[in-house]
Amino acid sequence: MNPSVSSLGKDLVGLEDLSGDQIISILDTAEPFKEISERRIKKVPVLRGKTIVNLFFEASTRTRVSFEFAEKRLSADTVNIAASGSSVVKGETLVDTARNLEAMRIDMVVMRHGSSGAARFLAERIPSSVINAGDGQHEHPTQALLDLLTIRDHMGRIEGLRVCIVGDVLHSRVARSNIYGLLKLGAEVAVCGPPTLMPPAIQELGVTAFTRIEEAIEWAGVLNVLRLQLERMHGGFVPSLREYNRIWGVSSQRLAAAPRDVLVLHPGPMNRGVEIDSDVADGPHSVILNQVTNGVAIRMAVLYLLAGGRQESAEAAKQGGEA
Ligand code: CP
Repeated sequence: MNPSVSSLGKDLVGLEDLSGDQIISILDTAEPFKEISERRIKKVPVLRGKTIVNLFFEASTRTRVSFEFAEKRLSADTVNIAASGSSVVKGETLVDTARNLEAMRIDMVVMRHGSSGAARFLAERIPSSVINAGDGQHEHPTQALLDLLTIRDHMGRIEGLRVCIVGDVLHSRVARSNIYGLLKLGAEVAVCGPPTLMPPAIQELGVTAFTRIEEAIEWAGVLNVLRLQLERMHGGFVPSLREYNRIWGVSSQRLAAAPRDVLVLHPGPMNRGVEIDSDVADGPHSVILNQVTNGVAIRMAVLYLLAGGRQESAEAAKQGGEA
């Protein structure tokens, strides 16, 4: 594989940078990779000899673990670094950390960081591929890709669908990546939540803004429910969690009033009983665990394509060949 011929370029920083065709290509590449995770022996030699560092400066369960599974299932050599156990706590900068890793001859860095723009900052300074696993309030591209794949699996298409992103849009990198991805694939997109949790001028991205959850549910075929990011709130964004749930929470009573079956996604981790009730999260509308399963296939596809693999070779690659 030759990274210089990657159809995605060197890095995956955000869906804002990709065309609709590139996004479709990632989704289509993920399709054959889904089956690898269903095998008794979940391993193919697609990334044999590649070295990948997972550099997580913020907490993560789903993203960190599914990148690691994706890397291992493609036979890459992986190293996990958390800020708390690294020399970052002694004051080492991000670039110095990355340059020292480069000196050990790595091929890719998967990074989660609390600062918006950190992934692009790193991508512009090191020759290895950088994959953004979430940077501040900017983007979380692989989350949006797995959301798109899950919607396509269940609805058969993205184009023409009405998708509403509900909740704490202000602090959400998932919202931003979903908005870019959904619009590029021809969906109609709306957001819904308290005015205090809406970014100013959100409509300039090309979305409709609802202020009442009932209106959003009446309009949408798909709801992507966001976590209230309490750790990023320093002030009175919502009166109380109980009040938030009463006014904005996605409940089975509210879904029952919808004119159609509504598909419900949530990127996790969930605040049950706040933005989403348990009977919705665990009920027939929910595809939340399907999202998690698809996360592994999407991350395999991104790793494979950035390593120079081609969508049309993915089926052959998963049968045992290197791309
Ligand atoms: N959806 C998501 O990014 O979850 P984690 O924070 O657990 O990775």
